[in-house]
Amino acid sequence: MKTVVLAYSGGLDTSVAIPLLRERYDYDRVITVVADVGQPDSEITDATKRAEALADGHHTLDLKDEFVKDYIFPSIKANGLYEGYVLGTALARPLIAKKIVEIAESENAQALAHGCTGKGNDQLRLDAIFRAEDFDLVAPMRDLNLTREWEIDYALQHNIPTTVTKEKIWSVDENIWSRSIEGGELEDPYVIPPEEIYEWTKSPENAPEPEVIELSFEGGVPVALNGAAMDGVPLINRLNAIGGVHGIGRADNIEDRVLGLKAREIYEHPAATILLNAHRDLEMLALTRNELRFKAMVDAAWAELAYMGLVDEPLYADLCAFIDETQKRVTGAVKVRLHAGSATVVARKSDFALYSEELVSFGESSLDQRDSEGFSKYHGFQARLVRKAMK
Ligand code: ARG
Repeated sequence: MKTVVLAYSGGLDTSVAIPLLRERYDYDRVITVVADVGQPDSEITDATKRAEALADGHHTLDLKDEFVKDYIFPSIKANGLYEGYVLGTALARPLIAKKIVEIAESENAQALAHGCTGKGNDQLRLDAIFRAEDFDLVAPMRDLNLTREWEIDYALQHNIPTTVTKEKIWSVDENIWSRSIEGGELEDPYVIPPEEIYEWTKSPENAPEPEVIELSFEGGVPVALNGAAMDGVPLINRLNAIGGVHGIGRADNIEDRVLGLKAREIYEHPAATILLNAHRDLEMLALTRNELRFKAMVDAAWAELAYMGLVDEPLYADLCAFIDETQKRVTGAVKVRLHAGSATVVARKSDFALYSEELVSFGESSLDQRDSEGFSKYHGFQARLVRKAMK
């Protein structure tokens, strides 16, 4: 009995993969796994139904809490941006891959499978986790070099229900942190994205009146909205809803994939934009200049590994340890104004603030300004020496 466990999304690629794994790879049992990392409920239900009809066994896993706690919160602490863009899809892949491995162990499977193509990042992120274990790895889309047209015909022959048409249509990947849209007409980077691709955000052009919200952070992670304590999942859902109304968090990026291909990717991530802006501002208040400068480098290195899905690389844990240490003082509250596509920090406070109104104020102060004069004599000292020497 040869068993394979397939990471299943309900889409065309992974649906077609089920009969392919039996016909082309001789597996007797195809077990599917749907990982719920915050896709719309209807998508999870549809994928589950479809999997139950097509596969020999199925698991739907609710990973939302774990995803937020173990991947999104660390990303907030690390100001998770790759090339300046909010990390989304990349954060979910390692968790999904780890869960597939667990299911494969419990199902006594010989192989792990995914429906990624050979052009994107996800194949690398999943493979990196899969290859650490003693399983065969099967990637039918990549191995067989399949095209969308071929898959649609194959789906029809195998009674696989599909909503996809042969016209160029975009491909969407969604989790609680980010919705990404690519492909179809968007592949031409000179095409302006049509309004209909957006689902989480209203057009900023039709924005309502500005709204100010208050976010509280503890140890670098958000814990309350407008004074009411909230867990990660409901808090992010709430911010996606509020931010979406204000058209916050749309991005249109030219992105360097791991393989080196440049891709055009559209994102919408209202909660991420709001939380990352707020978190960053609180860091400015609570961390020293030295910490901020050095952490920017650590954050960039962290994001690079997270983008590549290399969370088992020891450096990833090393960087997380540094980041966690800095976050102990990133506690406080931030007010953010939401309006017409932007989330602007308008106020902040922290018990660990290094900012002192008393010290910096133009008014009476305990600092004696005359003390700065000695410091000033050495400021730019070497530049003056050079200037003299060059005369
Ligand atoms: N470019 C992004 C990444 O590699 C997202 C890819 C998501 N896929 C999609 N079908 N939109 O992280």
